[in-house]
Amino acid sequence: MSCCHVLDLRLRPQGLTPSMYLYPQLRELRPGTRLRIWSPDEPTLLMAQLQNHLRHALVWSAVTDGQGYLITLHIRSPEEALSLTDTMRRDHDDMDYALVAALEALRDARPGVAVAAMTRLDHALRVHILIENELLAPLTAHCAAEPTALMRREHDDILLQLDAIAEACAGGDQAHELDIWLSLLAASLNKHEFREETLLFPAWERAVRDDAGRQPLLAEVRRRLAAAS
Ligand SMILES: [Fe+2]
Ligand SMILES: [Fe+2]
Repeated sequence: MSCCHVLDLRLRPQGLTPSMYLYPQLRELRPGTRLRIWSPDEPTLLMAQLQNHLRHALVWSAVTDGQGYLITLHIRSPEEALSLTDTMRRDHDDMDYALVAALEALRDARPGVAVAAMTRLDHALRVHILIENELLAPLTAHCAAEPTALMRREHDDILLQLDAIAEACAGGDQAHELDIWLSLLAASLNKHEFREETLLFPAWERAVRDDAGRQPLLAEVRRRLAAAS
């Protein structure tokens, strides 16, 4: 696929959603490959879906002429570092998948698999929360004080839920109780991650991008996440 290839979403086969049409084509692209997509609709939601499926490997931007949107994108090459936002979103996705895996295992009557998945998620989530509280929250303590304070309160609630889940896991044959706690955690994370991704990640990204002195902070975020995975 050449750098000037344009996919026009108006011409996709009937019955295919934009993401169903694009995903199989994008996942075959090699790193560095460039592509343009013409979309009649504002593409933020579509691109978020695709990023989720492709582990945030896409680097994209869009312009509009008032009639539609021309999206320019490429597949991130291995030497092209993830932005702070994509790094944290990828971690959200990984934790979401782990939680779904734990729930599915529990409902398939495989409690051992569920507990193992939940143990890994517990560790990853505690590391993630510590990174946000210690390293990232100070970046927006002044410019986004309320969302930052809300994030900290939600972290406290999530940590309480993790304690309850650890207790249920240790309690042996309490699959029903564990199922309830995992479902509650899924609901909490769903709202919490959405708020962070819309209210805080863009502000953290700007803070890191606009101050070269904060690059070590970004490196520390990546180091801690890599150590936890
Ligand atoms: Fe968080
Ligand atoms: Fe987060």
